[in-house]
Amino acid sequence: MSTSEPVVFWEDRDAIGLLTLHRPKALNALNAEVMAGVAELLRTRTSRPDLRAVVITGSGGKAFAAGADIAAMQEFTPAQAEAFARLGQDLAMAVQACPVPVIAAVDGFALGGGCELAMCCDILIAGEKAKFGQPEVNLGVIPGFGGTQRLVRRVGMAAAMDLCLTGRIIGAQEAVAIGLASRAVEGSALDAALETAATIAAKGPVAVRLARRALYENADADLLTGLAAERSLFALCFATADQKEGMAAFLERRDPVYTGR
Ligand code: CAA
Repeated sequence: MSTSEPVVFWEDRDAIGLLTLHRPKALNALNAEVMAGVAELLRTRTSRPDLRAVVITGSGGKAFAAGADIAAMQEFTPAQAEAFARLGQDLAMAVQACPVPVIAAVDGFALGGGCELAMCCDILIAGEKAKFGQPEVNLGVIPGFGGTQRLVRRVGMAAAMDLCLTGRIIGAQEAVAIGLASRAVEGSALDAALETAATIAAKGPVAVRLARRALYENADADLLTGLAAERSLFALCFATADQKEGMAAFLERRDPVYTGR
């Protein structure tokens, strides 16, 4: 469905980029246009050197995203379904490949593809009205945007099976308890996500980038391989101006001024 209004938009707020999914009448359901729009914004708006974090949110107050667009999928052939799943999976990879951390601000529903988009972000903040689930079995399908794979890695087999087989919807507290959400907050997730982004923006940019890399690149490695990679990246920090500034500032009892070099 193409509308005259943009279905995604971007706002620069100092060091933070705010990306909003904007199909409020359809609870920000993810169709091809939305997914292409998010991918395009991540590609074109994240290269400015002073950007430090991205926050993804949904407009309308009721949903982050209530899933992949059911109306768009209804008549899919298997080949079209596979291409659509590829689009969603590629989008999740694009989020992880973003040069700066990405924070999901979940207020309201994050279901199906919406839950999958939220869980591929680096940090997932759940507001008090957040609702999560993989309800695809209600529709006779399974998660297709990485849900079965990322969910099991994130929350373990027991909770992932429970969510994917029953389609049950859980709130913010349970999402934190099982490790799906990073944090539950009272009130709005968006406010907390923007605060978290500002916190990250004040840290050494190189260290933030390398920490993220150490976590992602070795998440599926064996322990010894992961530790070796961590040592190399730790060593790399000591070739940066940010390390010198961060440690000097601590010892001189002042705030660091990072240059990201
Ligand atoms: N796709 C398309 N439209 C959707 C949608 C979706 N995933 N979710 C909600 N909408 C639309 C509704 O059709 C409705 O549109 P109309 O006003 O034109 O009828 C509008 O958004 C508001 O929705 P409701 O009236 O249903 O709102 P509610 O408050 O009564 O219920 C809800 C909210 C529980 C989230 C309910 O909308 C719902 O169950 N949505 C579907 C959730 C779902 O099954 N998501 C998984 C999709 S499959 C998937 O994502 C596969 C994958 O992994 C790739």
